[in-house]
Amino acid sequence: MFITKSYTARTAPDFSPLSAASSAGRLDVICRCVISAFKMSHGLRSSVTFYAVLAGPPNPPLVLKVSEPEEELLRDEVTVAEAIANAMRRGHYGGFKVFKGDLSKVLADLTSMGGKIACLVLSEAGEDVLGVCERIRGVDVIAIALGTQVDLDPRDLKVLESLRPYYCSLGPLSYLASHAIVLINYFLDLMSGC
Ligand SMILES: C[S@@+](CC[C@H](N)C(=O)[O-])C[C@H]1O[C@@H](n2cnc3c(N)ncnc32)[C@H](O)[C@@H]1O
Repeated sequence: MFITKSYTARTAPDFSPLSAASSAGRLDVICRCVISAFKMSHGLRSSVTFYAVLAGPPNPPLVLKVSEPEEELLRDEVTVAEAIANAMRRGHYGGFKVFKGDLSKVLADLTSMGGKIACLVLSEAGEDVLGVCERIRGVDVIAIALGTQVDLDPRDLKVLESLRPYYCSLGPLSYLASHAIVLINYFLDLMSGC
């Protein structure tokens, strides 16, 4: 499960999916994160849920929840941006859901699923990923929180404190958010014996 927040992404479906980076306030970053969270060379990862809080103008904050998406909607960034716009118009569309709320709403949604949750906040300055993977063996749900084109701000990190997160580093270099998702998926795959 992934949790992120864009402080700039547009919160109305009045943007062009062809220019999500400009007309939608860097929604392109979220689109790439969705693709990285789910897509494999063949098919989609199962049992992934992706949450993004969208907090740009004109109607913040909105929660985007992607769960069991239709594969063709993840073809590329443009189709993902179209799916998000459609979900904003209709409430849900092909596994994409949009509803009013901030990070606390996301946490309420995920804790309502039950089970033991380990929250990993991805941060260059955190504890080495391999050590964290060892410490979370056997949990039911792994919730990975990360920034977008900027880091999560201190107020949002405070909200995540209720999950007693592990700050988890993929190394000293700063990766794009979508690449950080690929990397953490790789380590979690290794941990699960794939
Ligand atoms: C593009 S980075 C955000 C800005 C970046 N931290 C910087 O200072 O330029 C996107 C997000 O990916 C995650 N991330 C990137 N590199 C990472 C690393 N080496 N270890 C852990 N998380 C990382 C963090 O959550 C970060 O907020």
